[in-house]
Amino acid sequence: MSSEEIHHANYTQFENLAREETLQRVVDSYLALADGQDNWVCNLANASSLLWHAYRSMPLDINWAGFYVTKDPQSRELILGPFQGKVACQLIKSGSGVCGTALLKKETQLVANVNQFPGHIACDGETKSEIVVPIVSSAGHCLGVIDIDCLAYNGFSEIDQHYLEKLAAAIVQTCKFN
Ligand code: SME
Repeated sequence: MSSEEIHHANYTQFENLAREETLQRVVDSYLALADGQDNWVCNLANASSLLWHAYRSMPLDINWAGFYVTKDPQSRELILGPFQGKVACQLIKSGSGVCGTALLKKETQLVANVNQFPGHIACDGETKSEIVVPIVSSAGHCLGVIDIDCLAYNGFSEIDQHYLEKLAAAIVQTCKFN
């Protein structure tokens, strides 16, 4: 067996890249891994790993990276999906906290300081900043959200928003949610 052989774990090597390149690599790697695979659990599990290793390589001190998905067709509630990090709350109602706000408004929430976000749900009291990106289908239904938490204030910017919205679009393209 050649030492040059490509293993799945190689997708999580992000060393020495600029933030934009790292995040584009997440999108490209996600699409490569999801080729021929439409199961949302499988694809979002690998996406969580890509996000976790990408941000930690920057380095950015993230403490959670993963997904909540809509529990009902009317998108009234989110349920915990695949993630990397510590145990988190299982259910989030539409309009509640950062994730529920992204679900309700179908807009990315960039939160520089979670203590200043009304109704922020503190799954981990150590979290200081957060980005939540809705995953919206072509029919306009919110299928879930990408959520990343950081131990520093101002962890995320419009650069992260840009690439994570690309990832959300790639997820819509590749996953069957049912
Ligand atoms: N802080 C989120 C809850 C989810 S955890 O961060 C994983 C919120 O306010 O929606």
